[in-house]
Amino acid sequence: MLKNKVIVITGASSGIGEATARLLATHQLRLVLMARRESRLNTLANEVRSKGSEALVMPLDITNRKAVLDAFEHIHTTWGQVDILINNAGLMPVSYLDKLKIVEWERMIDVNLKGLLYCIAGVLPGMKARKSGHIVNISSAAGKKVWPGFAVYNATKFGVTALSEAMRMELTPSLNIKVSVVEPGAVATELRNTITDQELLQDMSKRPFTPLQADDIANAIFYAITQPDHVNVAEIFVMPAAQR
Ligand SMILES: NC(=O)c1ccc[n+]([C@@H]2O[C@H](COP(=O)([O-])OP(=O)(O)OC[C@H]3O[C@@H](n4cnc5c(N)ncnc54)[C@H](OP(=O)(O)O)[C@@H]3O)[C@@H](O)[C@H]2O)c1
Repeated sequence: MLKNKVIVITGASSGIGEATARLLATHQLRLVLMARRESRLNTLANEVRSKGSEALVMPLDITNRKAVLDAFEHIHTTWGQVDILINNAGLMPVSYLDKLKIVEWERMIDVNLKGLLYCIAGVLPGMKARKSGHIVNISSAAGKKVWPGFAVYNATKFGVTALSEAMRMELTPSLNIKVSVVEPGAVATELRNTITDQELLQDMSKRPFTPLQADDIANAIFYAITQPDHVNVAEIFVMPAAQR
């Protein structure tokens, strides 16, 4: 079902994106790996090739609109089309609002929302022309539930969830472009490394529980993209068993 498909994964250099690339690599397909850390992408690309798939490394900052659109043009020139976009790059430097970490607020909006939109712009014309494609947006449990300290991250992820449902309504019935949103609870990845608010970090450490693993979300993405043509998995909400 996935053989020879061209699949773009943003945020492929670690965590959920990397785990998804590893899972997909055994299916003899063509993977585009996007993120900023080129050496990690190269290592992953070698692993992908050793598992029987092709890999194209695209090191870029997803907030750079021109770089993103140029990259998608390059992918179309190289491989002709994009069948599936896994719109996964994101960051989570959460903080209490009164800390006024405005640069971090802007960064979350730029990566989690604007970067994700640039990638949609990169694939939409081709998918529309072919009347075929699948866009999987990675939102979060924070796109459904709010927590103190998470306000701006919540705003970006509520945005991704709302956008995804509107996309599904606009793009799926009339253009046959499937749209899925995946909403994980806490996953053990590098995502927390960007948090600089020590007070919030301390508060978060008071509520320990066993998180999901990146593979758990890779499995959810795999489910969404391997359904029959008439099935559009609109939403997958996955929580750690121990998280409220
Ligand atoms: N971990 C969780 O608890 C959790 C829960 C719900 C949702 N999510 C969502 O899952 C997605 C993946 O996160 P993760 O948990 O796998 O965290 P992660 O390991 O930190 O991965 C984030 C990825 O995004 C990329 N990225 C960040 N800024 C970028 C930029 N400016 N340009 C290009 N790529 C950029 C990073 O690559 P480079 O640094 O190499 O650029 C990295 O590959 C995010 O959208 C996150 O919000 C995570």
